[in-house]
Amino acid sequence: MAIVITVAQQKGGTGKTTLAANLAAALAPLRKVALLDIDPQHSLARWNELRPQTAAKLTFSDVSGWRVTGELERLTAAHDVVVIDSPPQIDTDARLAIRGASLVLIPVQPSPPDIWAAEGTLRLAAAEKRKAALVLNRVPFSGKLRETMTAQLQQSGKPLLTATIGNRTGFASAFAEGLAVTEAAPRSIAANELRALLSELLEMIG
Ligand SMILES: Nc1ncnc2c1ncn2[C@@H]1O[C@H](COP(=O)(O)OP(=O)(O)O)[C@@H](O)[C@H]1O
Ligand SMILES: [Mg+2]
Repeated sequence: MAIVITVAQQKGGTGKTTLAANLAAALAPLRKVALLDIDPQHSLARWNELRPQTAAKLTFSDVSGWRVTGELERLTAAHDVVVIDSPPQIDTDARLAIRGASLVLIPVQPSPPDIWAAEGTLRLAAAEKRKAALVLNRVPFSGKLRETMTAQLQQSGKPLLTATIGNRTGFASAFAEGLAVTEAAPRSIAANELRALLSELLEMIG
């Protein structure tokens, strides 16, 4: 049975799709990986179409609605890791993806609206008795903001990962080629941050 990482957060634009694609592709050389896109906008399908033949293989699937549960069962039976990208609202599909998760990964940009929106996702994960973790994404260069937001999150008792992802253009340029930053620019800071995130996640559930 696969471990399932569901990337969820009811606010749009926090980096769910970016992180789901990057985590799946970065893991693909090491494990048998499936990437399941249940967002009806299916933006990962374009990324997957762009993915070069030479890149590490991963199974890509985009389904929504009544097909989600069956597809998740099929993928978990045949892979080591399933990464799910979910829609920017808590609907039935997102609930199913959270219910099926070994870990719910909640990207937040270091700003109050993102953190408030994460509270809903944390509550849902708790209601489904699922492990959840926040990751700071698009952290700007200024150390002050990072420190303030990290301190606030820690004081609030929310489960915050040590790994953080900076605001890096490399994510968009790798995405445009159907790649993860670890593939497009393996020696970049973005790639180092992604690998650190991946190891922390695997340590938690792996
Ligand atoms: N760490 C990052 N650094 C720079 N840009 C990022 C980062 N993460 C996401 N983005 C950009 O932010 C935008 C929204 O990201 P996306 O993954 O589509 O969010 P969501 O799926 O939560 O709506 C995209 O343009 C993406 O390239
Ligand atoms: Mg998205």
